Parts: sequence; structure tokens; C-alpha cells
Amino acid sequence: MFKGLFSFTNTFTKRYFLKYSILIKNADKAIFCGEDKDLMTSLKSQSSLIPKGCHNGACGVCKIQVHSGKYVKSQMNRKHISTDEESNDVVLACKVFPKSDMEIEFIQKKKKNKYYLGDKIN
Ligand code: FES
Repeated sequence: MFKGLFSFTNTFTKRYFLKYSILIKNADKAIFCGEDKDLMTSLKSQSSLIPKGCHNGACGVCKIQVHSGKYVKSQMNRKHISTDEESNDVVLACKVFPKSDMEIEFIQKKKKNKYYLGDKIN
């Protein structure tokens, strides 16, 4: 009986509250989210897949490229997201609220004083 109740509750929750599938391309894994919470808060339960961050737009570790899907966003911190990036669907996950299934990819923040293949040394 409890197993059936759990299954019903799980299906009900996914259908009405966690209705969007968010594919994290870096991790090759999808999770379900609702539209009432920002992506970082929704993805928090998958802590092994996402970077730890401030959840308020200050640190910039949640910078993502949105490959597909609809979303609404609140104001981006210009320290981390330029207007060009924003218009090309590069946003902070903690400022994004999904409105459909999405495909996203986390963009790693470069550490200062480290060089990466292809970087120019000035
Ligand atoms: S978690 Fe810090 S800016 Fe999004």
C-alpha cells in the first residue's frame, strides 16, 4: 500500500511541480525541476553535478550556456555576464527560472594566473 502511495505521490509531484526536464550536458544527466525555483536551487539536490555557489548572483560559478529551452530570468550581474553573453543565452543559473525542458552546460570559471591551451600570454 505504501509503495503504491509513494509511486502516486512521486508521479503527482513530477507532473505538477517538477514538470521540466533539465539536461546538464557536462554531466550527461537530466533532473526534474519546477518553474517556481531558480535552476541552482532546483539542481542543489544534485550537488555532485553542479558547482557550489552563492545562489544570489554574486560569485559567478553558476554561469551556464543554455542550448535549448525557454526560461525567464532576473537581472544578471554584469561582473559575470556581459550583455552580449546574455543575448546569446549565457546566463547565471541562480537567476534563471525554467519554463520548458532545457539543455544547459556549466561554463567553468578560469582561475587567475593559470593558462589554458590556446590562451595568449601577454
Ligand atoms: S551561484 Fe553564485 S552567481 Fe549563481
